[in-house]
Amino acid sequence: LTLGRHSGDLVGRRVVVTAGGTQEPIDPVRYVGNHSSGKMGYAIATEARDRGADVVLITGPVSLPAPYGVDLIRIETASQMRDAVMASVNDADVLVMSAAVADFRPAHPSPQKIKKHVGEPSIIASSGQQKQATTEGHAAGDGFSIHLVRNADILADLATMQIGQQRRNREGRLQPLIRVGFAAETENVIANARDKLVRKQLDLLVANDVMRSDSGFGADTNKVYFFHPDETVEDLPVMPKTGVAAAIWDRVLSLLT
Ligand code: CTP
Ligand code: CA
Repeated sequence: LTLGRHSGDLVGRRVVVTAGGTQEPIDPVRYVGNHSSGKMGYAIATEARDRGADVVLITGPVSLPAPYGVDLIRIETASQMRDAVMASVNDADVLVMSAAVADFRPAHPSPQKIKKHVGEPSIIASSGQQKQATTEGHAAGDGFSIHLVRNADILADLATMQIGQQRRNREGRLQPLIRVGFAAETENVIANARDKLVRKQLDLLVANDVMRSDSGFGADTNKVYFFHPDETVEDLPVMPKTGVAAAIWDRVLSLLT
């Protein structure tokens, strides 16, 4: 047995990690999704487990094996992710939101598969009934549109909820939940990241440029910046996602008292 240099430094800590992308149903066979692979979040959860934490991993549908020794909660939609997070953070020390949560969802998912020829007279005639094929899509000529509505922002809402006040530090004082956010950007990485750190009142924001091939969606490596509330920024080198995960827990550890 070889013990890593971090071994055991998260013993007794309860952490909640979210990973992967959410899927917002359009109809029973289709969804609005994104390219999140879940690799970063799974690496964060696995690293926390290896360092001794009790880990809840709330995951969207991904093609990764369930890590041994973590409490896995599988969700599909942003709304389900929100419910799972709210149910898990009460006695947690840390929440790391690495999931790519859909910002919008179809307002009225169709209960039936939406048909390509919806509304065309020949199809309605041959099916023998005048039914409204979809409550969501609006076919008009060759086009089709879906009305989307905004999802709640889990991290931003937690900032105003005083949740996690059950946690006591070594002196017995009640401590707020430590919240770590991610920002996957395609442009203006620095400005967007700073804005998110402030808007969501985060303890740490991990930003990456998903336009790079060695960073972000699906890659095994990541090139990230750490943004801190004291306005300092760390520019980390390209690292395996496991290395980024270790660096995140090193920073979080220094915030845990
Ligand atoms: N997040 C969240 N709830 C949402 C959307 C995002 O908790 N409904 C979290 C993400 O998990 C991430 C952080 O907020 O940790 C930033 O997500 P991001 O999509 O980059 O930020 P948004 O505020 O959604 O801004 P935009 O997508 O417009 O850049
Ligand atoms: Ca977003």
